[in-house]
Amino acid sequence: MLLLKLVNICYDYPNTCGLDQLSLDIHAGEFVCLMGPNGSGKSTLLRILSGLASPTTGDYQFDGQAITATYLADAQRRQQLHQRIGMVFQNTDVQLFNTSVAEEIAFGPRQLGLASAVIEQRVTDCLELTDCQDLRDRIPYQLSGGEKKRVALASVLALNPEVLLLDEPLNGLTIAAQQQMLTLLQRLQASGKTIIMASHNYQQVQAVAERFIIFNSTHQIDADLARADLNQQPDRQAQLMTL
Ligand SMILES: Nc1ncnc2c1ncn2[C@@H]1O[C@H](COP(=O)(O)OP(=O)(O)OP(=O)(O)O)[C@@H](O)[C@H]1O
Ligand SMILES: [Mg+2]
Repeated sequence: MLLLKLVNICYDYPNTCGLDQLSLDIHAGEFVCLMGPNGSGKSTLLRILSGLASPTTGDYQFDGQAITATYLADAQRRQQLHQRIGMVFQNTDVQLFNTSVAEEIAFGPRQLGLASAVIEQRVTDCLELTDCQDLRDRIPYQLSGGEKKRVALASVLALNPEVLLLDEPLNGLTIAAQQQMLTLLQRLQASGKTIIMASHNYQQVQAVAERFIIFNSTHQIDADLARADLNQQPDRQAQLMTL
């Protein structure tokens, strides 16, 4: 099922281009990795997909609905979109603002007005899923970088979104923690979620992501390859190792 569709998207920042003429279809259940040089547009694309930014020109459709600036100006619709598409930011500090980890995870479900027993269950489930049980009563801003990433993911999962956007979720993690994160993302994909992540860690991601969208330094898509096809291209793989 076609879930996310971008047609001829351009995104201009005041003095620079973020994305240039990008068209893309992503189907439900895919595990996509966005790769490319620094400044090529990966985070900009994730911000557009999440509804945090609107393209300067071009069309974005999510599940058949045009996501325009007008659509996003409506707080209720914006909330509905954020319920279906969750995002873990590159900088998790901007995402964590509650006084305890449990409160952080409960925040989204509370906003939805869910019953307290349901909220409590979601907190417990999401703590367990992300291996954060021991962090339950800690203050989020005092956590280590890797712990913050897990808590940010837990807080996003608490809304049970269909699509998970993750901006550099492996940054700052040990190799073991990177593998744990990827295993969890694989489990989430197996449970039916669509995963779209930006990463520079081709070594770790190559066995997990199923599709690689590679940006160039002029903010366009340079290649869009299934893992099996990428495996036939040693030069391309060598390039990805340098990103
Ligand atoms: N808030 C901003 N204001 C102005 N320009 C920006 C802003 N954010 C990004 N840009 C510019 O837009 C372009 C795309 O940036 P983006 O953050 O999407 O790249 P990226 O691929 O995520 O890079 P990285 O690998 O470093 O995270 C870059 O040229 C960047 O300098
Ligand atoms: Mg980025």
